[in-house]
Amino acid sequence: MSVPLPPSRRLPRSLYLHIPFCRRRCFYCDFPVVPLGDGADGTRSPSIARYLDLLHRDLAAAPAGPPLSTVYIGGGTPSLLSVPQLQALLAAVRRRWGLAPAAEVTLEMDPGSFDADRLRGVLAAGVNRVSLGGQSFDDGVLAGLGRCHRRADLLQACRWLRQARAQGRLHSWSLDLIVNLPGQSADLWETTLAAALAEQPPHLSIYDLIVEPGTVFARAEARGQLDCPDEDAAADRLVHTHHRLAAAGYGHYEISSWALPGHGARHNRTYWTGAGWWACGLGATAGAGAERLARPRTREAYALWLQQRAGDQGGDGPPWPAPPVDDLLLVGLRCREGVPLRWLAGASGLTPGALQADLEAALAGWRRQGLVAWDGGRLRLLPPEGFCLSNAVLRDLLAWWQGRRGADAPGRPSPAGCR
Ligand SMILES: C[S@@+](CC[C@H](N)C(=O)[O-])C[C@H]1O[C@@H](n2cnc3c(N)ncnc32)[C@H](O)[C@@H]1O
Ligand code: SF4
Repeated sequence: MSVPLPPSRRLPRSLYLHIPFCRRRCFYCDFPVVPLGDGADGTRSPSIARYLDLLHRDLAAAPAGPPLSTVYIGGGTPSLLSVPQLQALLAAVRRRWGLAPAAEVTLEMDPGSFDADRLRGVLAAGVNRVSLGGQSFDDGVLAGLGRCHRRADLLQACRWLRQARAQGRLHSWSLDLIVNLPGQSADLWETTLAAALAEQPPHLSIYDLIVEPGTVFARAEARGQLDCPDEDAAADRLVHTHHRLAAAGYGHYEISSWALPGHGARHNRTYWTGAGWWACGLGATAGAGAERLARPRTREAYALWLQQRAGDQGGDGPPWPAPPVDDLLLVGLRCREGVPLRWLAGASGLTPGALQADLEAALAGWRRQGLVAWDGGRLRLLPPEGFCLSNAVLRDLLAWWQGRRGADAPGRPSPAGCR
């Protein structure tokens, strides 16, 4: 059995930095975050200052590599950091790796956690893309999510971002929304979309609600008190979203992502295309080839890990083994361009013709319904339905692949690190 993909010798050119502080924990969220209370702010929080010391140690001990093309500072609520704290972090990144010309530097910002001065400062420090956690424009929905911000905060934040872009201080920004929330009727969702479009974000990330174990939402669901749309209604809403945004000029380039031309997120492509990335911070996961290195999710364990670490993020360093095909399917099919058929042909030992026949047998139903295609050398989910019903198609695809693997290629690595 030939191994299809060469091991990766390319050192990552992307970095994820995790800032694990929020004012409150939202009712749906299971990210590794520490709630600090409603008044929390980087300028006066000893917890944030202590954590930043750890993060600087993590950065200083990270392996060297080429200048970075993308940096993503996520959380948590990184906009709680003061401007000097952010400047110091970006200076440490520049010292460790440097930034390539025109590198994309994204900061996640929550409405209500920053003002126009802080925005001005973080943009002057080198941030050129902002991801704004809006979630909804409806005050009732925002309260039901446990969010700190309200519609007025969100509108104000959008105004500042629009102005910064118009003045050439900000290259791009994105707005996050969540769809298929409890109590969110189709009409209310349409009102949300209209409000979002009125703010003219160059990029939109729209996430289908996942009820994560251990959250307030999961407990409400267990009690039968979480009134979310059923599967059909949820899929209808996603299809409606696709058409609504297409009519406004947004390309649906990834399952949860829409962009005006030239505004696709470069950093996220690193994850979707199987390229490697460095990661620093509590609970952050670095990825190189098939390897995933997750840092501990509590501050105590992270501090201990930093003391004990060997000093590298990618196991033994390059060359890293190629990611398993299951992983490549799961992440690669999220993107509109899909995955190359030659990956699958190589991994399965099938000729391209035999692979096409095999796929035809396994996925003919989905193909007839227009959800999946294999042509032009690639296997793709076709938006909108293919994206909206991706879970069902991917279930069949992975079952097909595992059947193939079980029959022909015992001992291949199992999927790692994919949600
Ligand atoms: C890394 S989170 C943090 C961003 C930022 N702190 C915020 O919440 O505004 C990025 C996005 O993931 C989405 N998200 C988080 N948990 C989710 C869940 N359980 N289901 C769907 N979307 C979720 C939210 O839209 C959020 O803005
Ligand atoms: S603000 Fe963002 S990261 Fe923090 S708890 Fe809410 S969703 Fe999670």
